[in-house]
Amino acid sequence: MAKDHNNVVEMVRQSPPVDTTEPYDPAWVAGKTIIITGGASGFGAGFAKKWALNGANVFVADVNREKGKELVEEMRKESGSEHHHFVYCDVTNWQSQVDLFRTAIKLSPHGGIDAVVANAGITDVGSTVDDPKGLDVKEPPEPVFKTIDVNIIGVLYTTHLAMFWLPRNDKSTKPSPSKLPPGPYTRDRHILLIGSIASLCPIPHQIQYGTSKHAVLGLFRSLRSSSFIHGVRVNLLCPYFIDTPIIPAAGRLLLAGGAMGKPEDVVDAGTRLMADSRIAGRALAIGPKVMIDDEWQLVPQNTKGGKEVAVWEAYADDFVEVDAFTRRFVGMLNSVERTRGWIGWAIDVAKAALYPLGLLK
Ligand SMILES: NC(=O)c1ccc[n+]([C@@H]2O[C@H](COP(=O)([O-])OP(=O)(O)OC[C@H]3O[C@@H](n4cnc5c(N)ncnc54)[C@H](O)[C@@H]3O)[C@@H](O)[C@H]2O)c1
Repeated sequence: MAKDHNNVVEMVRQSPPVDTTEPYDPAWVAGKTIIITGGASGFGAGFAKKWALNGANVFVADVNREKGKELVEEMRKESGSEHHHFVYCDVTNWQSQVDLFRTAIKLSPHGGIDAVVANAGITDVGSTVDDPKGLDVKEPPEPVFKTIDVNIIGVLYTTHLAMFWLPRNDKSTKPSPSKLPPGPYTRDRHILLIGSIASLCPIPHQIQYGTSKHAVLGLFRSLRSSSFIHGVRVNLLCPYFIDTPIIPAAGRLLLAGGAMGKPEDVVDAGTRLMADSRIAGRALAIGPKVMIDDEWQLVPQNTKGGKEVAVWEAYADDFVEVDAFTRRFVGMLNSVERTRGWIGWAIDVAKAALYPLGLLK
């Protein structure tokens, strides 16, 4: 049984576990300005199309110019809005990402960025860590860790810029688990990270990929314990193998016979997290649909009273019982936040008092 004083769920503003059977309205994304890296294909394109149709302003950032521009044209036509843009961005290049965020600020109809999806990712490219192919040469070849560059450095650049710009999103609301359903045009501060089942399980031979997706999980679990101080909510998706262009032919062969999940389930899970601004600090794993009973135990297909699910919570209990360092650190952040509130109030009172004297413009 967890001791209460070691439970920091409320202190980090983590929302209750996500009830994926609870209805939500995708139109709650309306009015949000959202950047999606790697947005030209797969999940990114699925998010972009769905959110554009539901009234969001979407920035598709990708190295694939052709696909990105074509997608944005389609989104503009289907949504009837001009507020969707393709921006060329190589996530491994810092300046390229700086320019992306600047462009979004400039073109956003309300001048802010509400949400960022760090979605760009690739499977193993470059050196194979478990087989460096150096047996016929005397010196080990210098490794090429392209996947690490895209999936870790790129994601960290995106997160770093999001943590800079989101708190500057004027009039945006801080996440609050107790609030009523958000409704459209709720200004937000949201980072959606894209992990993988490879964040949770070993993945043979794809060692850069497995390492990088474990890193994304580490980023999520660490960032969600302090981002609340800037009013930023952080969530994570961990899809199993899902049918998008990222899955190579060999992978498809291994998974033949129905083991792959459906992109629409990932898009639905991501849309719930994006639309419902009450959800903070939560991770959802998405796989092929399975049958479960009332206790969420697996049961055979067609079991009477069973229900089909594809989405599960992962790492739900991190904050229920924490170690002394985390408890004290989170406690300190809460004190800082309270002090900031008092300082802000004191400045407002001083301004109000000085206003009639004409000392403030
Ligand atoms: N499909 C799956 O089975 C699966 C499972 C778990 C996690 N994921 C993750 O989901 C995310 C999206 O993958 P997807 O399945 O939609 O694949 P995808 O290949 O369809 O899309 C990835 C996009 O990222 C872009 N990209 C690659 N390198 C880039 C760079 N340097 N800068 C900017 N953009 C770049 C690509 O051009 C492409 O448009 C990735 O992070 C991936 O690891 C996918």
